[in-house]
Amino acid sequence: MTTSSTSPILVTGGTGTLGGHVVPLLRSAGHEVRILSRGPRPSVPGITHVTGDLLAGEGVAAAVAGIRTVLHLAGGPKGDDAATRTLVRAATAAGVRHLVYISVIGADRVPLAWLRSKLAAERAVAESGIPWTTLRAAQFHDLAFTVVEKMTKLPVLPVPGGLRLQPVDSREVAARLVDLALGAPAGLVPDLAGPRLYDLGALARPYLDLRGRRRRPTLPVRIPGKAGRAYRAGANLAPQNAETGKRTWEDFLAERLG
Ligand SMILES: NC(=O)c1ccc[n+]([C@@H]2O[C@H](COP(=O)([O-])OP(=O)(O)OC[C@H]3O[C@@H](n4cnc5c(N)ncnc54)[C@H](OP(=O)(O)O)[C@@H]3O)[C@@H](O)[C@H]2O)c1
Repeated sequence: MTTSSTSPILVTGGTGTLGGHVVPLLRSAGHEVRILSRGPRPSVPGITHVTGDLLAGEGVAAAVAGIRTVLHLAGGPKGDDAATRTLVRAATAAGVRHLVYISVIGADRVPLAWLRSKLAAERAVAESGIPWTTLRAAQFHDLAFTVVEKMTKLPVLPVPGGLRLQPVDSREVAARLVDLALGAPAGLVPDLAGPRLYDLGALARPYLDLRGRRRRPTLPVRIPGKAGRAYRAGANLAPQNAETGKRTWEDFLAERLG
């Protein structure tokens, strides 16, 4: 398969939270975009939708045909390793020249099944033979928001002792990924996390204040096992060489809850 410098950029997961920021940035930079996702969607000028399923292996060859650069953002609660291996096989056959992957900070340090799956996906990318770039990011504000919304429905807020989060804005992650995708393949680049650390109580307080709800009493809990030890040791936090975003959780909440 031959590819050209005017090939569209394939974005797997282009319909997701992160993809929803990445696709307009690529369009603003003048690139045609092809999105692979499971549900059929109408194409619009500059953005073509291809229906496929990375876990079922359907539609993947058609999605990568004629593509030079892939931003692989599709992900779910499980199977990211298998899905990524399927994409890598198809991308290799199609002659893709740059494969960009989004992973999670701590994928190599926190012993949880979904993070092991992210690490295996990272390895599939690094061992693919395709020039690659992988960025590990902290949890997005959007995810922290979903968690806080659910937890604050409880009358008492369980706060895992020693667990700190460093949430990052998905728009800043998207901007970094687009820069990386438009640059030369760079391997594993410095992690990207948010500017501040929070425990669950500190995430919940400004949320409840902005919603005009009373603050909840907190209940200290302990995450058991090796994963608990890893979190308490900060294995999910940005290491020294990481980059930090500028937008804080409070900035995000002010915008979301106005
Ligand atoms: N959320 C976070 O806090 C966070 C932090 C660091 C890294 N990440 C990583 O960033 C990536 C994007 O996260 P996100 O929060 O934007 O996810 P999201 O909003 O849940 O979106 C997931 C995307 O993946 C697509 N997808 C899921 N399964 C698929 C499959 N089998 N075949 C093809 N497409 C599939 C979905 O498309 P359809 O549903 O339209 O098919 C959707 O576009 C993931 O790899 C995630 O691990 C997320």
